[in-house]
Amino acid sequence: MSSVETVSNDEIIRKHYKTMAEKHKDSALSTMEDPIIREKEVEIINNFLRLPAIQQNSKEVLEIGSGNGYTISLLHKSFPDYQFTGMDFSDDLLQIAKERNLDRVVFEQGDARNLRFDNESFDIIYTERCIINLLNWEEQQQALKEMHRVLRKGGYMLFIEAFTDGYQNLNKARNELGLDSIPMPHHNLFFEKEKFEPFVSELFEIVDPVSLGAASENEVHRNFLSSHFFTARVLHPLLTKGDPFMKNTEFVKFFTILPPIGCYASIQAYLLRKRG
Ligand SMILES: C[S@@+](CC[C@H](N)C(=O)[O-])C[C@H]1O[C@@H](n2cnc3c(N)ncnc32)[C@H](O)[C@@H]1O
Repeated sequence: MSSVETVSNDEIIRKHYKTMAEKHKDSALSTMEDPIIREKEVEIINNFLRLPAIQQNSKEVLEIGSGNGYTISLLHKSFPDYQFTGMDFSDDLLQIAKERNLDRVVFEQGDARNLRFDNESFDIIYTERCIINLLNWEEQQQALKEMHRVLRKGGYMLFIEAFTDGYQNLNKARNELGLDSIPMPHHNLFFEKEKFEPFVSELFEIVDPVSLGAASENEVHRNFLSSHFFTARVLHPLLTKGDPFMKNTEFVKFFTILPPIGCYASIQAYLLRKRG
């Protein structure tokens, strides 16, 4: 990967999030125009932070790629004992986050590939569709190493990112029923599990939420969005012959009651513990 390539990829990302900042300002829809996905992401991060094993000795929480600060603004109300840091690459989104003036929250400009924090500064890290904005695997690996470096030993990370298996399964289901494939967004590179899992396993243990005190694996389920994606992007467009991106209809909302079934969502959640 050349430095020219990195600069132009960075420009793609900056430009995309500048448009998001201008269009959505401090809204929940900033960077996520599907409100059910946003709701379910916030719910799973809440469930993660409430896991009994995670609440013990945890105080310092870092969100990598905190965008306009919407998610942190909700979490900081629900978790008054935690100190939150939000870090983001986009000055435009960061400015909106800072204007929220949240106590116990610090927002900083930064780059996931080269974090400015000291080793082992945080007890907990989470990401919400951030590392897929690094448009090659080398830089994604670099970001994973950096998150590992700034997390304390035994600390936990919830890695909510997009993966090719769910994306391909969804398109296969659509194609079987005569619907076109949904293209991968131009500003994203989804993770391939064949590369991701061996690499991440060197740095982190992949953890079952039940071993951390969850009542069931559904509380922090890897495929927490699978049923929603299948309903919103296969069943709904099939029945209506409509736009696959019309997501928040009553039909789709009705089926949010389903537990996670299958692996039909690109966006998935890995629960990880730093080794050592
Ligand atoms: C899909 S948005 C999600 C934002 C936020 N987590 C949310 O859910 O609203 C991805 C975020 O990652 C940020 N980002 C992209 N590349 C980054 C990098 N190299 N370092 C830090 N943040 C980055 C973007 O600016 C953007 O705010």
